[in-house]
Amino acid sequence: MTKPTKTYSTPAHRGLWSSRLAFILAATGSSVGLGNIWKFPYVTGENGGGAFVLVYLLCIAIIGIPIMMAEVFIGRNGRHNPITSFRLVAARNLVSPAWRVSAIVGVLAAFIILSFYSMIGGWAASYVGHAAMGDFSGQTAEAIGELFSALLASPVTLLIWHSVFMVLVIFVVARGLKSGLERAVTILMPALFGLLLIAAAYAATTGHFGEAVSFLFTPDFSVLTMDGVLIALGHAFFTLSLGMAVMMAYGSYLGDDISIGRTAVTVSIMDTVVALMAGLAIFPVVFANGLEPSAGPGLIFETLPLAFGQMPMGILFGTLFFVLLVFAAWTSAISLLEPVVEWLEDKLIFGRVGSTVVVGLGCWALGIVSILSMNLWSGFAPLGMFERFEGQTIFGLLDFFTANVMLPLSGLLTAVFVGWFVAKESLVKDLALKGPTFTLWYNLIRYATPVAVAVVFAYNLMA
Ligand code: PFF
Repeated sequence: MTKPTKTYSTPAHRGLWSSRLAFILAATGSSVGLGNIWKFPYVTGENGGGAFVLVYLLCIAIIGIPIMMAEVFIGRNGRHNPITSFRLVAARNLVSPAWRVSAIVGVLAAFIILSFYSMIGGWAASYVGHAAMGDFSGQTAEAIGELFSALLASPVTLLIWHSVFMVLVIFVVARGLKSGLERAVTILMPALFGLLLIAAAYAATTGHFGEAVSFLFTPDFSVLTMDGVLIALGHAFFTLSLGMAVMMAYGSYLGDDISIGRTAVTVSIMDTVVALMAGLAIFPVVFANGLEPSAGPGLIFETLPLAFGQMPMGILFGTLFFVLLVFAAWTSAISLLEPVVEWLEDKLIFGRVGSTVVVGLGCWALGIVSILSMNLWSGFAPLGMFERFEGQTIFGLLDFFTANVMLPLSGLLTAVFVGWFVAKESLVKDLALKGPTFTLWYNLIRYATPVAVAVVFAYNLMA
């Protein structure tokens, strides 16, 4: 068995978050993203509302929170990039370093996901422009639909916005922990909460707030399908940024005196509150304009602009809304770049700025594949036998493979590793949970979490 040696000492370039709040803002910034504001409302709409929301909340509690604690634990216990941290924690617990495959899968997934997350962040950025120029005003549903199709059909426009978004991300990450990540989230997160409050307050004036509340919170189990349950579980993973080594990377900068347990619970609650608030901001507008809550992925880019085009002060609210979306995507994207950069930086080849530029350019280049999938390559379907990839394109393949294979695999391995192979005393100490709460978490991470993730994993692959 490998024993820790002096080569494992913490690298000199490392710092720590300056406070518990800084970590909470950064981790919440990571988890609050397109998943909360774009995806949560539309999957809720597609799956019938209240009952789906209830299952989603359960998944956050039983699976999401325990895995988040496990990931932050590995990061802080290892104090290196996710892959080295995993190897170190394994060595300290005298088990095979091969467990680090969980972090390798996670880091790779982060790299791939960022490549297309940046493209979608670019859509949001381009919509800030459309909203501010009044392009939605008085338009028909067809015209607004065409605006979106025209964006997707133009590789050059997509490339420009993808590049703009990626430059923003590289800019923050290259500046390092304190003056980059921490400063960005300290400014962007309060701004995001403020904008969301404004959006929800506006929604409350539409006269359809009550309808939205009952849509989101009245469970009608007759409309919930097995697929809906699995989507809720998968979304709980994605929305909390799990299975992508992100929480390990962020955890590696967390001070020793901070309770991982309480912190993870706070982050998860904030993420959930933002998703629900986004629902409360969006659905009243949807109902007030007689639009379909089950419009699917187009809910934000086609349905909402239609509403903005017709409401009083729609230019202002539309612009604020898309700025909010860009901020949310931005703080998530920096967290996707961080684990990969941290890994390269720990290799001491390029330094912080060099590592960020190298990884960022790599992601940017891979993103071009997703851009071309939207237009020039839309007919090119690798492994065309899998009909379930969205649009059956390379983008669909990347999305499907990361969300349904890599994330659950990484999450499952992490849960089993921490639950079964890490000494209980070090978990008790680091998580700093009270007796019965610790016992609850320990049982969840050993039994409920791995079983639930394995079931979804198997179903997703077989269905
Ligand atoms: N949690 C983000 C969202 O809900 O949009 C997406 C995401 C960000 C996933 C960062 C994973 C990640 F590492």
